[in-house]
Amino acid sequence: MSKTITFSASKGGVGKTTMTFNFASYLIRQGYKVLLIDSDYQGNLSSTYESYTNQNTLYDVFTGGLAKIRQLNPQLGLIPASPHLDELEGTLQSKNNKNFMMMMWLQDHLEEIKDYDYILIDTHPEFGTLTKNMIAVSDYVVVPLEPSEYGFIQSKQQFDLRMKEFRDDAVDIRTRASLIEAKVLYLANRVKHNTRSSHEFGQMIDQIDNLVAVLNEREVFNSSTMLKTPVFDLEQTKRNPKTLQQINAAYQQLLESVK
Ligand SMILES: Nc1ncnc2c1ncn2[C@@H]1O[C@H](COP(=O)(O)OP(=O)(O)OP(=O)(O)O)[C@@H](O)[C@H]1O
Ligand SMILES: [Mg+2]
Repeated sequence: MSKTITFSASKGGVGKTTMTFNFASYLIRQGYKVLLIDSDYQGNLSSTYESYTNQNTLYDVFTGGLAKIRQLNPQLGLIPASPHLDELEGTLQSKNNKNFMMMMWLQDHLEEIKDYDYILIDTHPEFGTLTKNMIAVSDYVVVPLEPSEYGFIQSKQQFDLRMKEFRDDAVDIRTRASLIEAKVLYLANRVKHNTRSSHEFGQMIDQIDNLVAVLNEREVFNSSTMLKTPVFDLEQTKRNPKTLQQINAAYQQLLESVK
């Protein structure tokens, strides 16, 4: 059985796409098979693989069309985003099963997805219908937080609250058990080295329960985004064993938490 992980945060620019892309690369290097799903209509993840398109995309999952998994290489598949995904927020509102359409599609395509060890899902920065569909099929929701940002604790509390509301709302009518099984994990990202004392930083992250890993602000991530290349394949990273070591350690901790 594959494990499904959605990267979500209501804030933009916290590193969802960068993490989805690079964690996928990490998993592939560990020998796993990965399926990526891009549910952000901005299509940043799909563009990384030159696959931001209108043909056979995630959009078709929600409209009765023909969604297709692109097999990018033997270990990596992708269901790309379409620029039209943003229209779904409106058109799905009248449907009773609007939050569970992804779940039904996956159930209908078990044969195609059964060989993937991990399904990683990137999302748009909001807790809308599409994101709820992705959370509904997930075992884990990984939320990147920037602990150096003012108000990050409020962002965390807001996310916890939305998850609770979704869990309470989406119940099996007969048993009253929630249909939402995903566990929320937090990951501190873009932590700046010198701006705060370690004591202060320690206090900040002590306030986050379920914090699974910490990633520093690193230039290699910007390069990774710009060059559409995993950090592990950049010369810049290879020349800097300490950076590589920290990134590997953080991803290993994340992997241990989702096994
Ligand atoms: N640890 C990091 N160190 C340095 N730069 C980072 C780090 N993580 C992400 N970035 C950079 O921050 C920018 C925003 O990251 P990214 O696009 O992954 O965020 P996002 O949460 O997906 O944004 P959006 O909500 O708009 O989709 C990118 O240029 C990325 O390279
Ligand atoms: Mg993104």
